[in-house]
Amino acid sequence: MKGLILSGGFGTRLRPLTYTGAKQLIPIANKPIIYYGIEALTRVGVSEIGIVVGDTRQEVQDVVGNGERWNARIDYIPQEAPLGLAHAIKISKDFIGEEPFVMYLGDNILKDNLNYLVDQFKKNQPNALILLTEVNNPQEFGVAVVDEKGHVKKLVEKPKKPPSNLALVGIYLFDKEIFTAIENIKPSWRNELEITDAIQWLLDNNYQVESQTVVGWWKDTGKPEDIIDANLLVLEDVESDNQGKVMDSTINGRVKIGKGALVEKSIIRGPAIIGENAKIIRAYVGPFSSIGNSVTIENSEVECSVIMDGATIRNLEKRIDRSILGKNVVINQIDESPRTHKFVLGDQSYVEIIK
Ligand code: G1P
Repeated sequence: MKGLILSGGFGTRLRPLTYTGAKQLIPIANKPIIYYGIEALTRVGVSEIGIVVGDTRQEVQDVVGNGERWNARIDYIPQEAPLGLAHAIKISKDFIGEEPFVMYLGDNILKDNLNYLVDQFKKNQPNALILLTEVNNPQEFGVAVVDEKGHVKKLVEKPKKPPSNLALVGIYLFDKEIFTAIENIKPSWRNELEITDAIQWLLDNNYQVESQTVVGWWKDTGKPEDIIDANLLVLEDVESDNQGKVMDSTINGRVKIGKGALVEKSIIRGPAIIGENAKIIRAYVGPFSSIGNSVTIENSEVECSVIMDGATIRNLEKRIDRSILGKNVVINQIDESPRTHKFVLGDQSYVEIIK
């Protein structure tokens, strides 16, 4: 079985973070999102992985490499524009050949091990196996109608009036018939070849489509609040490990501290992760925080946030909560008169000041 990870798209809902980087490279618990997909695939023995890339090809390639670190082989498949998930499969035909494959959307994170899906696919040999989960906002996803026996009846992409609350999770198993389906569908109103339409074509033409429901949790990291939530969920499983230096500080709960990090006169409440060479001085780092490499937090409080490599937070009177700071961002409070704000913010930055 081969693996296909999709890592194109513009990530418009994650601007400004995606102006300077691919959304699949945003760190969750200090690890690029796309790594979670690669690890899920390699854990079930998939070692030949194709990554479909767009404009951010080079940076994805620089970070992910050739797969050696996972004992896998990774090939890159360029997609000229984000023309849909089914289009991504279509252009990957040479890579996939006749083999069955797992398609994993590079911005999805699933807690479950993929074993149960792969086992079901091997045992029943359907043409497609889709993964479903109940959501509160089905209009934002592909939605499935399933009968009492769990058979898939119908799929619709981002319906205004959702026929159910069962969303299609971004992990799919297919055999080669999906290529036949894709040959027979037309682009949607948003000019994309939709994977939901291709699977609907399989259903309409009496191919076998099975479904499974997510056991643990699943997160599509399309929006800033999803990044915060995914980070929280992943940190639930972080294990304590201290490779840094902790002086005159209190560490509560599970906290992972990287090499060369310094925690001084501070309180850290897990679950949290502190990156390599970070400096936490006279500070508070609260639960569900991921502090990147070489971050400095001094005289300030941070909780439930993702602070990326090289950022600096100093002397803030108020706690930073549920926030995302990109690489090398500086937030500094200065005691000066007149009391003004001074910002240098990229396009579509978001600042919320609570009085
Ligand atoms: C895509 C699929 C949708 C699915 C979702 C899961 O949506 O088209 O059916 O539910 O991924 O993440 P997109 O991320 O392209 O909006």
